[in-house]
Amino acid sequence: MPSLLSLALLLAVANAAKAEYVWPTKYDHFEDMLVMHSGYRRFGFGDRGTVVVPCSFGSNTVGRQTAAEWVRTAFHDMATFDHTTGKGGLDASIMFETESGENAGTAFNSTLSDIWEFVSPRTSVSDMIALGLVAAVASCGGPEVPLRLGRVDATEAGPLGVPEPQDSLETIQADFDRMGLTTEEMIALVACGHTLGGVHSEDFPDITGPEDVSPSNVPKFDNTHAEFDTAVVDEYLNNKGINPLVFGKNETTNSDKRVFAADGNATMHKLADAATFKSTCAEVFEKMINVVPSTVTLSEPIQLIKVKPYLDAFKLSSDGSKFEVELHVRLRSTKGKGYESPPSSVTIDVLDRKGNRTSLQAAHATLKGGQSYGFFSETFDWYLLETQLDAGAGVESFKIHISTSEGEEVLDNGGTGGYPFNDGVISGTQSCLDTTGTQGNVTFDLYSAVRSDLAQDLDGAPWISFAHRMPQQGAVTPRIVVEKISMAEVSASLNGYKLFKGTATTPSSGWSTRYDLGITLKNGKEVTREFLRTPSTSC
Ligand code: HEM
Ligand SMILES: *[C@@H]1O[C@H](CO)[C@@H](O)[C@H](O)[C@H]1NC(C)=O
Ligand SMILES: *[C@@H]1O[C@H](CO)[C@@H](O)[C@H](O)[C@H]1NC(C)=O
Ligand SMILES: *[C@@H]1O[C@H](CO)[C@@H](O)[C@H](O)[C@H]1NC(C)=O
Ligand SMILES: *[C@@H]1O[C@H](CO)[C@@H](O)[C@H](O)[C@H]1NC(C)=O
Ligand SMILES: *[C@@H]1O[C@H](CO)[C@@H](O)[C@H](O)[C@H]1NC(C)=O
Repeated sequence: MPSLLSLALLLAVANAAKAEYVWPTKYDHFEDMLVMHSGYRRFGFGDRGTVVVPCSFGSNTVGRQTAAEWVRTAFHDMATFDHTTGKGGLDASIMFETESGENAGTAFNSTLSDIWEFVSPRTSVSDMIALGLVAAVASCGGPEVPLRLGRVDATEAGPLGVPEPQDSLETIQADFDRMGLTTEEMIALVACGHTLGGVHSEDFPDITGPEDVSPSNVPKFDNTHAEFDTAVVDEYLNNKGINPLVFGKNETTNSDKRVFAADGNATMHKLADAATFKSTCAEVFEKMINVVPSTVTLSEPIQLIKVKPYLDAFKLSSDGSKFEVELHVRLRSTKGKGYESPPSSVTIDVLDRKGNRTSLQAAHATLKGGQSYGFFSETFDWYLLETQLDAGAGVESFKIHISTSEGEEVLDNGGTGGYPFNDGVISGTQSCLDTTGTQGNVTFDLYSAVRSDLAQDLDGAPWISFAHRMPQQGAVTPRIVVEKISMAEVSASLNGYKLFKGTATTPSSGWSTRYDLGITLKNGKEVTREFLRTPSTSC
């Protein structure tokens, strides 16, 4: 009988065959935002404005339902697509189009302004809009919508083309046809969207009636406006409900009534089944957020990662003797999908550049129970290793040993031999923020330590690739402008490293942003340390 260990190895080999996850990737950050909305670490949903949790949440503003606003934002951004030209689609052009009649209301600026802090070279506004839909639907008890990434933001307004409630069925069908969607898909998409939220009397007094035009008067599409369920379908089919676009006094604006009946109610009867409703909504929502300009190629759907390391800090101490390391490991512990009895620690097996191995323990994190929580009952357990390593010996990579009652595993980063430290280019602990500069701007002193053997082989000076988060005219979301900044040597020998410094000046509203450190070698190869956070320590 095979031992547990060899069984684990066999499984590892079997997994490697189907393109296993290899750390790091440029989607790691987005996977975090997708899967963790509360607990030890959380991204976007559990705090401040981006909240779509709970589904009924309205950012403390009367008449707002953030989850519903995100779903509507995604539709309005996408609805201008023209499948014959390949132009439009989910490209965040909505940020420049908030003043057009078809985009009435404050919802678009409200949702978009909440993501200011998240926009980065790896986080386009348009990918955030897609995430907004996926998260809103999840938060309201809807289905899992697969999320692909790679959307590119428009730099100006696009054409109009969102259907409006006073439009005839022919006009609305022609609009959906232009988007590349069938009549069935149109019906499903409207029903799936209008299971949440309602119509704001302040923006559509013709629909809600002139009697009570106020922020709090928002007639809902169904009696369960904060639940992703079939109520909107049932109430329509039973001819007894509250949807202002079905039961409105003014037939002209009863667009849902016309849309729902477009195929003699066939689709609506199918959608009345709860399971069919969920699976159909997942399909049409996925299709909707994947409507992008024909020049854009989307990634594979983001998969949740079972074991994921985070090299949160890896810096050369100021005397050059030590690497200051803060390493987290995240284990998925979701029932049926991960480590159901997470261990109290995991072992980090560090390989130095001389070929020696050292075993260090990463203990289960304690803050907030050391767990994060995501949609669909996902749970994650966190392990933390804070240590100093001898910089003289260098560090190559690490492996992760996980020992549970289910067995013993040694993870080597998807068969690549280990998770790379990449000690060729490291940030210096001296990096700092200077807020005393020119009005409206801040300046960063950024340090990069380059390993001497590489420093001898440079083609040009080491560089910073700095992501300026620039405010844009007519939009509440910023645009990323990447600047390549040359660095100058400040110390020739720091225990096997050379230290370089560069400065970056950026608008203070965008001070918290990202940068890469890099070098180009004479053989054309680049060595980089990417997606670093700008420092908050004062110079
Ligand atoms: C014929 C097509 C459609 C028409 C005419 C239409 C019309 C409207 C109108 C007039 C409102 C009220 C907006 C407000 O007062 O804030 C609304 C809200 C909404 N729509 Fe649509 N819609 C259509 C299709 C869709 C689709 C396809 C989706 C999503 C897939 C969607 C999602 C939403 C959501 C979630 C709300 C609620 C917003 C909130 O409560 O803040 N709509 N729609
Ligand atoms: C569709 O359903 C509505 C609501 O029950 C009903 O009023 C209408 O007559 C139906 N249309 C057809 C063609 O069955
Ligand atoms: C019905 O709505 C249309 C479109 O908004 C509007 O032009 C018309 O005046 C409304 N009719 C009534 C009776 O309110
Ligand atoms: C491993 O580390 C020890 C102690 O630091 C050192 O003496 C030895 O040379 C190292 N081994 C190799 C292969 O470099
Ligand atoms: C949304 O914000 C932009 C940028 O501040 C502004 O130009 C636009 O008028 C706003 N739209 C609405 C509807 O308030
Ligand atoms: C602020 O920084 C930006 C980006 O580097 C630059 O374009 C702008 O000229 C600076 N403004 C001032 C007043 O220095």
